[in-house]
Amino acid sequence: MAKNNKLPGYVGWPLVGDKSIEFYRDPIKFYHKYAELYKSRIFVSRILNKPTVFIGTHQGVRQVLIDCADNMNMGYKFFMGDIYGDNILFANGEEAAGLREALSYLFTAEGLHSYQHVIDRIINNEFKQLDENDPVDVYSFFKDIATQICLSLFLGLDTNQSKDLTQQITDLTTAQWHGILSVPLNVHVTKYSSTSYSKALDAKVKLINIIKEQRSQAEIGFPVRLKEVPSLNNDVFINNHLLLFSSALIPKAIASLLMSFFVVTGQPNNFDLQAGMFFDKNIEDRVLMEVQRLYPPFMGGRRLVRKECVIDGYTIPEGYSIVFLTFAAHRDSGVYEEPNTFKPERWLDNEVRTQNKLFTFGAGPRSCIGYHLVMNIIKTIIQRLMTQYTWKSLTEESEINHKWLPVVRPKMPVLIDFNTKVEIRHLGDKYATTL
Ligand code: HEM
Repeated sequence: MAKNNKLPGYVGWPLVGDKSIEFYRDPIKFYHKYAELYKSRIFVSRILNKPTVFIGTHQGVRQVLIDCADNMNMGYKFFMGDIYGDNILFANGEEAAGLREALSYLFTAEGLHSYQHVIDRIINNEFKQLDENDPVDVYSFFKDIATQICLSLFLGLDTNQSKDLTQQITDLTTAQWHGILSVPLNVHVTKYSSTSYSKALDAKVKLINIIKEQRSQAEIGFPVRLKEVPSLNNDVFINNHLLLFSSALIPKAIASLLMSFFVVTGQPNNFDLQAGMFFDKNIEDRVLMEVQRLYPPFMGGRRLVRKECVIDGYTIPEGYSIVFLTFAAHRDSGVYEEPNTFKPERWLDNEVRTQNKLFTFGAGPRSCIGYHLVMNIIKTIIQRLMTQYTWKSLTEESEINHKWLPVVRPKMPVLIDFNTKVEIRHLGDKYATTL
């Protein structure tokens, strides 16, 4: 669509015009405030002391991620570069393509198959602790399970046998997490002077030592498969990738998606979906797509423009940064009818991945390489719970107060009642009487 080409908004003066604190305090409020003020879902402001274009249209996000991907560099090194060391997420161009190809070996169908018994073992163990007499704090429950799965797969750890080491790693990844959170708040001073940041750097050194140890003795998961990747023979790179994969980001994102799924399908007006999904996997897929659309765990992402480009009609100069807003693109009324309504049936005729309509896992040449693994974990958990329980959410999604960055998550416990299915209870009674 033709536009007058002048970016709405105001870049502001260096430092004094910086809006990082306002943005990071409540990014959703920030976006809506300025989108309304400038009457545009694309506008410019100043974040991390850089002119930054906010992109909230579906077409704009698609162009950033796919059509103009060659004009962009990834924009995460500033936050996480020291904390995680060199890895694919900070690489660009040919280097990134080479790393993606090498790492894809870890996510082949054969690889995914070999991880399944680890996933099953942890889920079986953890579900024994699900008490149907007490409502479950679902985000924490799923985060614990996802953490155990990630540490088992990515570090080859037996989390059941090595509880102290698991706790030690979890504490260190939490210190790294707080280090990442502290970066935007320190935009006016050097980030190295922040205590959280220096603790995160200490945690990195300790985690890398644990990773080296695990690599020498692990018998399952990525450490074993990595030895077989011919083009990934640089020890520092391998350690850094294991560090990234076992960070707090991934379990939190998995827990975020699962929480939204159970809250939405646990509303009385969606109880029929619980029965429907149990009998028809296509319904489960559609519900999962709609959950991804409305509640993406990463609300967006960042790029640095390395070559001038045109996004949704606006010219964006070299040197600017871009914040693309997945949550806004997913609610673009030009693409989705009734964008704020939960309507899984909208996916009846769509093959979502091929049409690039969802950006929950990114899109284009830098899309998420862990997508199939995540779907495997999520579906295994959903299917196990669905077989045994019905559930009722004690909270509505609209009542949940969120923290938005880096991962969307609740500020307070979100409670769900799980109840053993009537037919399973009867089966139990039958066994009890025949024994
Ligand atoms: C619910 C869980 C997850 C979500 C929502 C998610 C989402 C995303 C998104 C949105 C991107 C694109 C970022 C961008 O374009 O700026 C991405 C990239 C990436 N993801 Fe995931 N991810 C998840 C889990 C995983 C897992 C389990 C792994 C691997 C073990 C993984 C590995 C990666 C890597 C390496 C990239 C960077 C790819 C590149 O730079 O070319 N992710 N993810």
